[in-house]
Amino acid sequence: MKKVKIALLGLGNVGTGVWKIFQMNKDEIEKRSGYEVKISKILVRDKKKNRGLDIPEELITTNFKDILEDDEIKVVVEVMGGIEPAKSYILSAIKNKKHIVTANKMLLATRGDELFKEADENGVMFRYEASVAGGIPIINGINESLTANKIENLYGIVNGTTNYILSKMDLEKVNFKTALKEAQVKGYAEADPTSDVDGYDSQYKLAILAALSFGTQVDVSNVYREGITNISSLDIEYARELGYKIKLLAIVKNHDNKLELRVHPTMVPEEHPLGAVYDSFNAIFLKGNAVGELMFYGRGAGDLPTGSAVVSDIIAIIKEDVEGENKIPVVKNNLWKKEFKEMSEVTCRYYIRATVIDEPGVLGEITKVFGENKVSLRSVIQRGRRHSGQYVTLVFETYLTKETNIISSIDSLYELKSVNKIDNLIRIEEF
Ligand code: NAP
Ligand code: HSE
Repeated sequence: MKKVKIALLGLGNVGTGVWKIFQMNKDEIEKRSGYEVKISKILVRDKKKNRGLDIPEELITTNFKDILEDDEIKVVVEVMGGIEPAKSYILSAIKNKKHIVTANKMLLATRGDELFKEADENGVMFRYEASVAGGIPIINGINESLTANKIENLYGIVNGTTNYILSKMDLEKVNFKTALKEAQVKGYAEADPTSDVDGYDSQYKLAILAALSFGTQVDVSNVYREGITNISSLDIEYARELGYKIKLLAIVKNHDNKLELRVHPTMVPEEHPLGAVYDSFNAIFLKGNAVGELMFYGRGAGDLPTGSAVVSDIIAIIKEDVEGENKIPVVKNNLWKKEFKEMSEVTCRYYIRATVIDEPGVLGEITKVFGENKVSLRSVIQRGRRHSGQYVTLVFETYLTKETNIISSIDSLYELKSVNKIDNLIRIEEF
């Protein structure tokens, strides 16, 4: 059997998953690729770290040149994360005619064009299935299996950490901090978990998915972003009462030539398939004009699920012709020019939770403000005071309205003496 050498940059959660899969599925990988694949070098920061893996010492290096200058290494697998030195390492590997596999959505969403161009110019393959939704084959799904379609819209739960946290808060009443710690221990979270909880990770992933789905360039700044740190158990309780689940959704809708791109906590009807996606699972629900509605579902984070996507990319490269020159363009994201909708132009339904003074006429004053701003209310909840004191919680659910009307309503509400605080505003998606 022919042999091929590959190298890993990184041996953390994902790198470990890749190593384990090569041990577990050696026979399948060899038969499917037609090659005996050898991981011949692994780059790490700390050579002495105990990784609980049976890896020969001579494979581990802290010097990238050991990989770059070894001409027998045909594929470089970047699973270290971050922008630098990952970007420089990938660029030099490409220049040395090595094919690339990466799981690094932050790098792809912010510097992808430079990397794709370099890969095209050097005739190397560049695959990144693991960068969005872990083990779910969504990149290949869009790039290969759905190219007959115009994608109309796409809704994704694309971050495992936040879905894990929201699921734990909802189903087991675990608090935010404890749930985040658990997600970190399980290897779902980014090295800096603010990327997960503040929505940046989903923002990167949506920029990648939208660019592929619409054959256009998408800058991360085109994607509106909010994270989940404002979501309290009280919001989850009210959502349940109204028939919703709260999910961090990444949404893209195509309005003629304008894309609406947003990531924010969203109330999803509990009977919708996305409402039943729990734990570190991810799902992408999309509509193509030929295929209709489609949902991809699976583990969005963790060593083996993510490793599954990385190793499949390695096998795809080896099958394609690891020793030849690639002729297929790496990415086609400049086929169409799209414009982007401002968030104020978006139309949505809203949940608004407010703390107000509990006295006669207050509800009337508030509903008048909504009416004056063309916001129609679908339901109102007031339970009476939970604690002694003058305040009470009010929850409003609106019909479809423009974001700009909601913003002006909130500005006007703050002018009322009876309104102490607008505690939260969560968008509701109806599909
Ligand atoms: P991780 O656990 O933090 O591992 C990072 C690895 O890279 C470590 O082995 C580290 O070495 C090595 N490394 C980092 N900086 C380095 C440097 N400057 N020089 C040499 N080695 C360096 O990260 P991860 O969770 O595996 O994630 C890796 C990438 O995959 C990220 O881009 C992430 O966004 C992406 N991703 C992760 C998941 C997931 O479920 N975790 C899923 C999909 C995609 P030491 O071990 O010596 O510190
Ligand atoms: N931190 C990411 C998540 C890893 O939680 O989804 C997978 O990309």
